Amino acid sequence: LSKIEVKLSDIPEGKNMTFKWRGKPLFVRHRTEKEIAAEEAVNISELRDPQHDKERVQNPSWVIVLGVCTHLGCVPIANAGDYGGYYCPCHGSHYDASGRIRKGPAPLNLEVPYYEFLSEDTVMVG
Ligand code: FES
Repeated sequence: LSKIEVKLSDIPEGKNMTFKWRGKPLFVRHRTEKEIAAEEAVNISELRDPQHDKERVQNPSWVIVLGVCTHLGCVPIANAGDYGGYYCPCHGSHYDASGRIRKGPAPLNLEVPYYEFLSEDTVMVG
């Protein structure tokens, strides 16, 4: 399927759910207030692939990214790693809770796909 509709109320705060979209894993993460505050406060000049959190989300509570490590394409693990976002066990890349690369060999942030909110509770990806 080229588009996928995700019902957000199924995803509790602090959890990441994985969907399958265009043959790839798609991560939808319901961030906590603490995660939102931490990611918004990151000094982007320290980042390898500098992007402010606001450029990566439409609604700060929801991070929607491809679950494909930008190093060699493994699937990162949610809520793991030194930055609490995602950790790729293949060669040790650490991403934050905005999906930005913070440490390890991956060159780029996790990719944000095109998506739109159809309502407060429904997002359409693709
Ligand atoms: Fe993720 Fe290499 S594929 S660190």
